[in-house]
Amino acid sequence: MFEFDYTNVLETVVGHGHGIPQVAFEKAAESSKPIVEGIQRAHAAGKLGFGALPFDDKAVKAVTDFARSHAYANILLLGIGGSALGPAALDSALRRSNSGKRLLVLDNIDPDFIRDSLDSISPADTLVNVVAKSGVTAETMATFAIVRGWMISALGEAKARERFVVTTDPEKGDLLAIARLENYPVFVIPQNVGGRFSVLTPVGTLPAALLGFNVEALMEGARQAAAQARNSFFQNPPLVAGFIQFVLEREKAKKILVLFPYSQALWKFSFWFKQLWGESLGKKLDRRGREVYYGQTPTAALGVTDQHSQLQLFIEGPNDKVFLFWDVNEFRNTLPIDHSFSSFDSMEYLSGKSVADLFRAEKQATEIALTEAGRPNATVTVGRIDEEALGRLIMFSQYFTAYAGEFYDIDAFDQPGVEYGKKLTFAMMGRSGFSEYNRKIEETRQRRRAVIR
Ligand code: PA5
Repeated sequence: MFEFDYTNVLETVVGHGHGIPQVAFEKAAESSKPIVEGIQRAHAAGKLGFGALPFDDKAVKAVTDFARSHAYANILLLGIGGSALGPAALDSALRRSNSGKRLLVLDNIDPDFIRDSLDSISPADTLVNVVAKSGVTAETMATFAIVRGWMISALGEAKARERFVVTTDPEKGDLLAIARLENYPVFVIPQNVGGRFSVLTPVGTLPAALLGFNVEALMEGARQAAAQARNSFFQNPPLVAGFIQFVLEREKAKKILVLFPYSQALWKFSFWFKQLWGESLGKKLDRRGREVYYGQTPTAALGVTDQHSQLQLFIEGPNDKVFLFWDVNEFRNTLPIDHSFSSFDSMEYLSGKSVADLFRAEKQATEIALTEAGRPNATVTVGRIDEEALGRLIMFSQYFTAYAGEFYDIDAFDQPGVEYGKKLTFAMMGRSGFSEYNRKIEETRQRRRAVIR
């Protein structure tokens, strides 16, 4: 089950100043045909790869076969950004407490975090997955060096070598060369799939298989979403969703997109989505080279937790946001609320209800309150949290982002800002070939500081 309900972005519901008139949808249904065709053409020509990933049975078989012969309690993933957020989202949604498996993601390089994480597991029970599309990212290469030393000192060089598996570009990057030198198994990220669109490559599927998740079902859900993404406008959820965000941001000044899962399992999914949306659409130039400084800032709130934190601001603060709820119909547990305190008003009405009822009621209450305050919102609902649903949500989100990029007429698949930051880091750390950035760094160091101590 998958549903995208956009009733509460309509002008008739949230008012003229903040909603979209029906006629705008009718016009978009006509004008967006080339957008769908363009994305499909880019896939057919091999320029884009994300939509084709769930149809690659060989890639799925390779990761499931590998997982069968590499059963370890701990999977230590070294990677950052698109090489970490997807696997973390899958793990947090699908892991069960009795699985006997644990994923640790060393994305941040806070040295205390790395040390504490390594101290919390035994190298003997651990498989290390080093993930970097570029094969050169400073954080990942540094962490790899530390973890390799940690593994060698526990198991010796030969045994340690058997505990590493690399996921990277098929042709370039030092990580690939090191993997060949050390004889590590290598899984590849197709060159036409960018980092933040790579969760359905071995970046996400290998950790998923190693954690015992059903990768075939994940891909089945993704296939269903990919099929819908080819439909005509009113049958195409990611296309309509992309259009809505584009119009609300450009014409109704909704500069902030609040991702609002009413599901603890989808909390990290919203962090994955933030990168996808932020890096893809935050662009200085449009396709014609004009300076446009586009982008809508993604942020996250958790239902119900944030009802007691950010919701006051959302309802009564500036009307500069659009809310995207991520909802689940059925939980694995309903938790009936049985008690003997019916003489207390605050307990009596809960009798005979369940925690799931309360959770659902609170989501509806939030939706009503936001809508009444003229705050546009929409809801994506899945039946239950499982691999198929995650596959569906992932592929929906990727097409949603790609289509929004087409409405903006920007390149949603590059990230020049991120690359510039990486180059400055290389220069600062003395990597050869990056000295042209030294002047910039020196200028900053010489700047008179405004500091209070
Ligand atoms: O989406 C992107 O391309 C980036 O955010 C990357 O995922 C991130 O910078 C990590 O890059 P790499 O996988 O090369 O280590």
